[in-house]
Amino acid sequence: GGGAGDENYVPDMGKRVLMNWMLVGATAVPASIMAGMYLAFFMPPKKAGQGQSALARDADGLELTKDKYLATHKPGSRDLVQGLNGDATYLIVKENGELESYGLNAVCTHLGCVVPWNAANNKYICPCHGSQYDNTGKVVRGPAPLSLALTHVNVGEDGSIEITPWKETDFRTGQKPWWK
Ligand code: FES
Repeated sequence: GGGAGDENYVPDMGKRVLMNWMLVGATAVPASIMAGMYLAFFMPPKKAGQGQSALARDADGLELTKDKYLATHKPGSRDLVQGLNGDATYLIVKENGELESYGLNAVCTHLGCVVPWNAANNKYICPCHGSQYDNTGKVVRGPAPLSLALTHVNVGEDGSIEITPWKETDFRTGQKPWWK
């Protein structure tokens, strides 16, 4: 069985595949380095061991600063910024005019609609299927099964608004975060 034809076929193919990979490699490696540099340019500097983080950005993708934000947001305000992974995230201005140290991911835990803040009812009320969350983002009415995801909000030395993942116990439920 077999024969010389089969024996030659395999190495030829192998060689051809190898050469194709070398071609791909020759173009792909510099491209990936470029992509890495491109990404690095936009990545906020990370603190060791903190994992992903993001600087809060407005709807136009511009980085916000605490001063700029508080100039246009009064005590009690809950407004959306782009947070982790670009997710719509609520920043909260406390009654003393300072930023709350946590933010809320605005994505409804039911089917993912962005949940608006309803100041008159002091709740977040989802327009899609009526789920409700209290003013800490804790779910108080279904069909949403879970509370809104928490993030940390810190103000950097340069005034930038840093949003980092919340990995600790959920203070609203006393449970481990479901969003990890
Ligand atoms: Fe919000 Fe269904 S997506 S209630």
